[in-house]
Amino acid sequence: MEKKRSKFSDKLGFVLAAAGSAVGLGNLWRFPYLAAKYGGGIFLLVYLILAVTFGFVLMITEISLGRKTRLSVIGAYQKLDKRFGFLGILACLVPFVITPYYSVIGGWVIKYLTVFVTGQMQAATNDDFFTGFITQPLAPVIFFIIFVVMTVGVVVLGVQGGIEKASRIMMPFLIVLTLFLAIFSIMQPGAMEGVIYYLKPDFSHFSATTVLAALGQLFYSMSLAMGIMITYGSYMKKENDLEASVRQVEAFDTAIAFLAGLMIIPAVFAFSGGSEEALGKGPSLMFITLPKVFNSMGLGTIVGIAFFLLVLFAALTSAISLTETLVSIVSDKFGWERRKSSLVVFVYLLAVGIPVSLGFGIWSFIAPLGMSLLDFFDFLSNSVLMPIVAFLTCIFVGYFIKPRTIIEEVEVNRPFKLQNFYTVMVKFIAPVFLVAILVFAVMEALGMIVV
Ligand code: PHE
Repeated sequence: MEKKRSKFSDKLGFVLAAAGSAVGLGNLWRFPYLAAKYGGGIFLLVYLILAVTFGFVLMITEISLGRKTRLSVIGAYQKLDKRFGFLGILACLVPFVITPYYSVIGGWVIKYLTVFVTGQMQAATNDDFFTGFITQPLAPVIFFIIFVVMTVGVVVLGVQGGIEKASRIMMPFLIVLTLFLAIFSIMQPGAMEGVIYYLKPDFSHFSATTVLAALGQLFYSMSLAMGIMITYGSYMKKENDLEASVRQVEAFDTAIAFLAGLMIIPAVFAFSGGSEEALGKGPSLMFITLPKVFNSMGLGTIVGIAFFLLVLFAALTSAISLTETLVSIVSDKFGWERRKSSLVVFVYLLAVGIPVSLGFGIWSFIAPLGMSLLDFFDFLSNSVLMPIVAFLTCIFVGYFIKPRTIIEEVEVNRPFKLQNFYTVMVKFIAPVFLVAILVFAVMEALGMIVV
């Protein structure tokens, strides 16, 4: 069994595949709107600190768990300690929460692509255009379904080879285009204020919510705390340098998020003013701001088409890896073949995703904790489930299998210089911090404290 497990061909293959899963809507859509909302520079600073501490520790842990056990998430925890089998199952729940709403946003991206292709860029610059679209009962649902069909279609056909090859080619284009747009956006009149807002930490904006939001974003963006990196680690060869790979994936993911912020936040200042209302737009920010940027440039339609095409591509590669996970969980659990499991996952995605889409319009009366359904699912996964999974993983490593187990796996390649830091983080700092932040977030959401 073990010998047959497929492996990434080399370190680069692993890094690109992991980065392909990591880089998606989280970087391009979610990171900029959170940074805008939670005080710009201070959010960026907190995020970067968390990335090199929490992000590093958790990713090292997950990849080592996978490579050591050669099992994906459900089996990996269980193999090392029977009592922790439940943690694998808990981690599996996360993609079930994320994928439906991820696909709703994917649908919005397709819509914007068609808007630009059909030459309606001008209309899309209107502030009400986006809201007008997502509040409709039918159109956003249709685009959502198109996105799901594309994703599940690929998963069923298993043309992953093609997808992986394509992402190797398209990812560099995405980086170049994002860089180009960031530069263009910074050069707009009035944008400098936005650059300052984004880069200069203003400590008066700091609160526990900033940390929680940044932490949730970190997990989401790096595909952590949901077992995906365990699975990826299980395909990694022993001779590939684990620590170096982790650093590269993290650096890549963070760089794209950083650039996306630089592309969007200065544009909010240039085109909509830097008011709290303009910055606090939330999930709609990218869709409201970017059309204005494109409209102000020569060849904006073409640049817009290229941009949304690449975002769609990044979203699809991530959605495919999420859906692939769901399908494999379902087929392992029920012993069904791939097609049947895919069909069940497809129905599940529609059953949850359609209400999420309608939640912006005719079903907006469904507002758990006062949030839209999309924000609610996002909260549930990023602010509740993922911190819990991360916390339990730290306890599992810190006190049950012991940090040694992970350190030894890293040291298969070379001495793990940061092993003391790793041990202290995983045993003490991370668990305490995760619990504190989780309690705080839940209390805040339940209205028990007001910030
Ligand atoms: N990390 C991806 C993003 O930033 C989302 C994702 C999570 C994809 C988990 C796959 C698995 O968009």
